[in-house]
Amino acid sequence: MKIAVVGAGLMGSGITQQCAQSGYPVVNIDTFAAAQEKSKTNLKLLFDKKIAKGKLTAEDAAEVLARISYSTDYAAAADADLVIEAVPEKIELKKEVFSKLDGVCKPDCLLLSNTSGLSISELAAATKRPQQVIGTHFFYPAPVMKLVELIRGLVTTDEVYLKAKSFIESLGKTTVDAPEYPGFIVNRILVPMQNEAAFMVMEGCSPEDVDNAMKLGTNMPMGPCELTDFVGIDVMLATMTGLYNGFHDSKYRPCPLLERMVKAGHLGRKSGQGFYKY
Ligand code: CAA
Repeated sequence: MKIAVVGAGLMGSGITQQCAQSGYPVVNIDTFAAAQEKSKTNLKLLFDKKIAKGKLTAEDAAEVLARISYSTDYAAAADADLVIEAVPEKIELKKEVFSKLDGVCKPDCLLLSNTSGLSISELAAATKRPQQVIGTHFFYPAPVMKLVELIRGLVTTDEVYLKAKSFIESLGKTTVDAPEYPGFIVNRILVPMQNEAAFMVMEGCSPEDVDNAMKLGTNMPMGPCELTDFVGIDVMLATMTGLYNGFHDSKYRPCPLLERMVKAGHLGRKSGQGFYKY
């Protein structure tokens, strides 16, 4: 089975890595060659660390890397049996990607979207094969996190759902069926909690106190502010805005501090500054 992953950002890179680690030949497609270069470098650094820690052999690392190829052309998905789209969470961008994939992919190719909350039915409608489109929400970092939410669009067939589920399980992940409503399951619960943490920082609590309280009081591996920095303040704000717009409910109002931080370019770990400095 040949896999194509579209997008070389944090999620696309992690999903590409996971597919290769699970034995699949995978082509990563991104129109920005620079994003792929960064993704390649990060993967090599990650593997070097694992080799140094004795958790991976140099031979195994080389085998995994050899299964990954890179292309800036959508035509590279022409012989794929399954494509996972993992471009940024912008509906128009994702629709454009799906329409392009529809033009190049084999008729029986499965089209998966990695989205944290967008409508699968809407993405599917950008293709002439909406029944073959399904949502798969991986968590960051994709090679580490065990869960993938599966989201069926209005016309996703049972056959496509079962094939997608079995593929995700072959990656060593556990799936849950999530409803096609903003935030699915995890983000509908997790992101408002992170948003509330941002409100507390805005009111004067220190991020350290908020994080220590939640880590020591609830055994979270990372506190909510640390997690928001880790995932990206912009990503978290976009998800919260999606909940707010999707449910038309003021209880999902994004915290103004997050909006200010994004405007200032404080995007978390990836920009060097978020709730903390990196
Ligand atoms: N990519 C791939 N692998 C990574 C990685 C990355 N970015 N970061 C860490 N890892 C791997 C490491 O290589 C290491 O593997 P080995 O054990 O084989 O060496 C393993 O993960 C553990 O890493 P560390 O020892 O460096 O660090 P840690 O033990 O502190 O764990 C963590 C790091 C797994 C990220 C942990 O802190 C954690 O679980 N944090 C919470 C993550 C979380 O909640 N994610 C969900 C975010 S919400 C989301 O994704 C939804 C959305 O739509 C926004």
